[in-house]
Parts: sequence; structure tokens; C-alpha cells
Amino acid sequence: SSALDAVRTELGECTRCKLHTGRKTIVFGEGNAGARLVFVGEGPGQEEDQQGRPFVGAAGQLLTDIIVKGMQLKREDVYICNIVKCRPPNNRNPEPDEIEACEPVLIKQLEVIKPKFIVGLGNVAVKTLLKTKEGITSLRGKWKTYQGIPLMPTFHPAYLLRTPGD
Ligand code: URA
Repeated sequence: SSALDAVRTELGECTRCKLHTGRKTIVFGEGNAGARLVFVGEGPGQEEDQQGRPFVGAAGQLLTDIIVKGMQLKREDVYICNIVKCRPPNNRNPEPDEIEACEPVLIKQLEVIKPKFIVGLGNVAVKTLLKTKEGITSLRGKWKTYQGIPLMPTFHPAYLLRTPGD
């Protein structure tokens, strides 16, 4: 949509935090700008940084399977993005200053898309969106709200690959 394009244009070749020094590509997010459902992850990994697309590596394949095989939706009908838009070195967690610098982008994406539901993938996404210190293990599976929008916290697919029993 043009409103979402404007958010991307405003971001530009961003240098607002130190993650810009190590990135190849800004991973803004992709999917349907009118999606009823938005997934929010943590930040790009190596494959995402290379391709400029969210959730296209191993964790992304699991997320795609959850959406397509599990939820019987089309990946292109939902919207998928991350808390930070640039890959943290070594795939470490994004740091508070990096999250703070990038958060206005996510806020604007969600303001424009106005989804009916949000799925928060893992600790970083859920803690950032809900402004809580409570961990994902106690939050997951319980409805919360983000700016009046129902939000479901769930485990991050990368965690599920390491801990398939969950
Ligand atoms: N790929 C992403 O785009 N985000 C994550 O949080 C993990 C993998």
C-alpha cells in the first residue's frame, strides 16, 4: 500500500542505530498491507539479511509451515515483520538502544496495517510490544492486547527448532 510504502521510504538507508554497520539489507517486512493477521519476530538472521525478506531461513521455513499447513492460510495473505529491521551480529539478541531506535518503524507499520490480530514470536517481540518483563514461557498462549489489538504471545520458531517438544 502507499501508506506502507511511505513508512519504508521514510526509513531510507537507515543509520539510526549501530546495526546498520553490519547489515547487507534492511528487512522491512512483507505480505499483505491489509492483512488481518500480523506476525512479529525478533530480527533478521543471515538468510534474511542476504535476501532482504523476513523469515526465509530455517526458522522461517517452520513459520511458513505453521501458517500454511497448520493455520491453512497463505503466507502472502498475512504480514510478517520484525522488531529490528537489520541483522544483529552473530544473531545475538537486539540491544535496548537498537530496539528503541527501530521501534517507531514497527509502530507505524502496525498503525497502517491495523490488523485484527497480532502474533508475537518469542521473548524479544513480546516483551517489546507489551512493555513487560514477563517471559514468553508464562505469557505464551494467553491473549494480551497491543494498542487495543488482540495479541497472542507464542514461542519463536527458532526456539521450537531447538526444543521441538514445546
Ligand atoms: N528470521 C526473521 O526474519 N526473524 C526472526 O526473528 C528470526 C528469523
